[in-house]
Amino acid sequence: MDHQINQTSSSPQHGGYGVIEDVDSVTDCVVRAMSRAPNARLRAIMESFVRHLHAFVREVRLTEAEYDVAIDFLNRIGKATNDTHNEGILFADAVGFSTLACLLNNGLHGAPQTAAALLGPFWRDNAPFTPNGASIVRSPTPGPTLFVTGHVRDPHGRPIPEVEVDIWHSSPVGLYENQDPNQAEMNLRGRAHTREDGVFQFRSVKPAGYPVPTGGPVGDLLRAQRREPYRPAHLHVMGYKPGYKTLITQVFVPDDPYIENDVVFGVTRTLMGDYRRHDDGEPPALDVTPPWYTLDYTFVMEPGEAKRPMPPIK
Ligand SMILES: [Fe+2]
Repeated sequence: MDHQINQTSSSPQHGGYGVIEDVDSVTDCVVRAMSRAPNARLRAIMESFVRHLHAFVREVRLTEAEYDVAIDFLNRIGKATNDTHNEGILFADAVGFSTLACLLNNGLHGAPQTAAALLGPFWRDNAPFTPNGASIVRSPTPGPTLFVTGHVRDPHGRPIPEVEVDIWHSSPVGLYENQDPNQAEMNLRGRAHTREDGVFQFRSVKPAGYPVPTGGPVGDLLRAQRREPYRPAHLHVMGYKPGYKTLITQVFVPDDPYIENDVVFGVTRTLMGDYRRHDDGEPPALDVTPPWYTLDYTFVMEPGEAKRPMPPIK
């Protein structure tokens, strides 16, 4: 036993970070233990994280039973995540973490239209390229037809050509195609390039609101907080072009009943779209019957680094 103690006490090369004397000395001891990280940013983030985490535990005087719930919750988030569902992002969204990080890092210098919104858990990489103006409805999908015209501009108002624009949205029954065996692969998903005048166009159906998946731990949290799981209707848009900061945003339907109660806090004032209803006049295509909708929206992209996000699902 003595031998083992001697071995242990002689092994650290830079002195120990200390023995914990009492409840007040835990935090500094942990911070000292992490202070040797060569990466300065990792050091700063982890020190702040530990200080805030410990302050939180002290403030709420976390019980041991609550500690068990917290660890179980964390583990369940991991277990509920798979190739087609990302419970971790859903949790980050449901506590406003995603929107805070998003607003902190985007749209600080530009026009209001540069406002970003969370990526969400449903973006899939490699949506099919669709000719400008063509339809992204790939299997019979109910709902009024929607014609979208997007203008992509730089902060000086100049059109940006050759932007790869990725669009995705849920069906009018409130499900993304990966959640719904009745929809074709990549239904209501597509990519197009902006023309020389910075314009992209496509045809779809008017999006509807939907509940976020509530079968996992985030659903339990929402129920315990008496929160409804709904998102207001929206269109997801991503603009990508080397030399410009990747724009990830959502365009919301302002008259949706949940516009002020988005379960994941994605709605910002500048992201309300002008979805216009048309009951008469000449439809834009022969097979369209009234009512149909049009959406015209200007997206502003700032010069910067073009980075593709990590796909939350496959
Ligand atoms: Fe969505």
